[in-house]
Order: sequence, then C-alpha cells, then structure tokens
Amino acid sequence: MKLLLIGSGGREHSLAWALAKSPKLTKLFAAPGNAGIADLADIVQLDVTDHKAVVDFCKSHAVDLVVIGPEAPLVAGLVDDLEAAGIKSFGPTKAAAQLEGSKAFTKGVCDEASIPTAAYGRFTNREDALAYLREKGAPIVVKADGLAAGKGVVVAMTPAEAEDAVKACFDGSFGDAGAEVVIEEFLEGEEASFFVLSDGVNALPLATAQDHKRALDGDQGPNTGGMGAYSPAPVMTQDLVDRVMAEIVTPTIGTLAARGTPFKGVLYAGLMITGDGPKLIEYNTRFGDPECQVLVMRLKSDLLDLLLDSVEGRLASARAEWHDDAALCVVMAANGYPAAYKKGTEIRGLEQMGSDSLQVFHAGTKRDNGSLLANGGRVLNVTALGNSVADAKAQAYDAIGNIDWPDGYCRSDIGWRAIAREAKEQA
Ligand code: AMP
Ligand code: GLY
Repeated sequence: MKLLLIGSGGREHSLAWALAKSPKLTKLFAAPGNAGIADLADIVQLDVTDHKAVVDFCKSHAVDLVVIGPEAPLVAGLVDDLEAAGIKSFGPTKAAAQLEGSKAFTKGVCDEASIPTAAYGRFTNREDALAYLREKGAPIVVKADGLAAGKGVVVAMTPAEAEDAVKACFDGSFGDAGAEVVIEEFLEGEEASFFVLSDGVNALPLATAQDHKRALDGDQGPNTGGMGAYSPAPVMTQDLVDRVMAEIVTPTIGTLAARGTPFKGVLYAGLMITGDGPKLIEYNTRFGDPECQVLVMRLKSDLLDLLLDSVEGRLASARAEWHDDAALCVVMAANGYPAAYKKGTEIRGLEQMGSDSLQVFHAGTKRDNGSLLANGGRVLNVTALGNSVADAKAQAYDAIGNIDWPDGYCRSDIGWRAIAREAKEQA
C-alpha cells in the first residue's frame, strides 16, 4: 500500500516509524515531514491547506490511504474532500472533528448523552460571561470555544484572572476561536489521557497515558505543547478504563452516529479522575503529541492494520496487542521555548541511537549538508521502553546524556508522579 502521512511533529515521526514496520506498506510519502521522517518516507512539497493539491497528489501517485496527524486539517475538512474524491483517509470528517474544534459542541454532546463533565455556561457576549463569573466565583476555567493551539484555556484561581481571560477572548486575542466562550467548573483530581480507535460504530480501547504540559520541573512554568509523557497511566485501573468506555466514550460514539456524523479515527479523551469518578475535560480527534510516541513504542500489533480497520469499519473484531512494559518520552526543546527561541542550532550524537526499546523521534528538525539542525520549539522526543516507568525514564535520560545539543533543554523529572506511585507500591 502507498500512504501519505500529513504532519511534521514527533507524533508523525513515531507514526511513520510504526507504519514502516508493516509488511503491507510499499511506499510512504510525507508532507511536510521533518529530518527524521525523511529517513523513512519521501518528503513531498505540498500545501496541506490546499485540499485540491492533496487530492491531485494522491491521484497522480496512486496513494491508497492518507494518515492525518494534526487537528487543523481534520477541522478544515481534509477527510471530507479526500473521501469525495474517492481517496481513503484515516481521521474524522469535519463534522465529527468538531469534538476537538468546538468546546461548546462537545458540551452539547455531553448534555445529550449524560456524559460526566464539568458544569458550564457558554457565552457570546462579554457582559453575560462576566455576570456568570461573578455568580460562580473562583477557581473557575475560561475557554475560548475554537482551536487556539492549546492556548485558549485559562485555569483562573482568582476572579480577576477569570475576568481578564473573558476580556481577552472577546477582545479578539484568539481570533475567531474566542468569539464564543465556555466557562466551566474547576475539577479537582489527577489528569489522564485515554486513546480509542473508532470506525464510526465500534470503539476499540488503545491505551492510557499522562503528559507533562508545563515547561519546567515540578510541573512549573508556562504551558507548552507537552514536555514528556508516559504510558500506561498508573491512575487508570482496568475498572476506570471500563467506566470511561461505558460512561464517556461509547455514548459519544453513539451520539455522533445517531446524528448522522459518525466519528472515525482516534478519539483522545482528556480526563480528570475526580472523587466522583472520571469526568471528561476535553476531546481531541487525533493522537496526542508526545503521547503517540509512547503508545507506538508499546504497540505490538501492526499499526497500519488497525488504522485500516478504523477506515473500513472492522473494529468490532479487531484487537490491539501491547507490551506490558512502560514507555516514557522526554521532549528536548530549543532554549527559550515556549517563548522566543533560535532555529538552526546544530545537534550531534544521534547517529548510533535507535533500537526496539529506544527511539529518538524528531519534531522540529531539518538536515543541512549532512548536519542535523533544530528547526522548531519542540525538537527531539527521546522515547524508551522499560519494565517500569522508572526504568524507561533511566534509559531515556541515559540516551539524552549522549546527545550533544548545547542550545536545547529538557525537564529532568518526566514521569515523577508515576514513579512515586511505583515506589509506594513496592514499599
Ligand atoms: P483543555 O485544552 O481543555 O485540555 O485544557 C487544558 C488544561 O487545562 C487541561 O489539561 C487541564 O489541566 C486544565 N483544565 C481544563 N479544564 C479544566 C477544568 N474544568 N478543571 C480543571 N482543570 C482544567
Ligand atoms: N500533548 C497534548 C496534546 O497532544 O494535545
């Protein structure tokens, strides 16, 4: 099979790595890709916002399946345009991708299917939003409705912070994404991510993970796209997985199917495990980055088979096999990230790395005359498999010790919560 992979992050490099192991794959194209993906795929110069150009490329190169990594092309309806042209693609249609594209849409699904989530109000004008804030007090959470590259959420610990967040939304700080605002109850508990494949009707649970969103050790500092992750998430016992399937995922898939907009692809549930059980914080309609990197390290099954089962409606009889081992990913970012950072700094020491239990997935990298250069904020994803989270962590940081990149940094404590739990269980 010939595949086109869309995206350029560590998530897409890890997808390319897993797809390349499939005996079914005969050719992998990638757009826009990165230096790591270039070792596994032919990089093609395509503007992925130009759907006609993507369709034309697929036709002229006899592409059998398009795998879309990030959310923006999904929300923009790339799957719809490919399907209309008779080209198969992995991921939800524009209508189903509203689960990620609009927080108010997801709240509506939760209401309709009685899915546990934070109580909320939605507002299209500032005065009503401010009145609601005064009624509810703090802590409270203010969210721009649409896609805001992970920056549209403010967890406000004081009424003043909440008011500022509402004003920022209606002042246009998030563009169209802030035209509607969702204000919701602050949930207390431990966060976990849960990944499921759906073919529109059936849902196949994949795995659990936890990520570290803050830039600095101790989960301090500014929010980022994610500085590390591990899988499985120890907080997600089998009992909780069963509850999340029954109370959250299955009703969501059922509601979208009943509305005539079935959800196909990977559903990523961001959960808060509260004293009252699991509650949905948000949905994403794609793999997480860096959660995907740890998932594919643990996956024993053929990823391409699973994606095809989703696209072609065969998940009722599909199974995903996993290593019992834990996987952990440490993100190396350019100094300064998530604020201003330099591009073009050289990275050395990666040549000899890579095995079934250690992979360095590239995010923002490019090759220049044989040298590897940083080309983005998040740059490398050092991902290891071990017999515990602590073991995987030790291996990942060992590898980082051999990477020569003075212009990059990483957190030193990825996995701390899971490792503390492991230590307690052994004591
Ligand atoms: P979201 O983009 O909706 O995932 O929100 C980003 C982050 O904000 C989440 O990962 C949580 O850490 C936090 N968050 C979002 N909603 C809530 C909530 N209702 N209560 C507590 N924390 C929240
Ligand atoms: N790591 C969080 C995300 O992919 O949304």
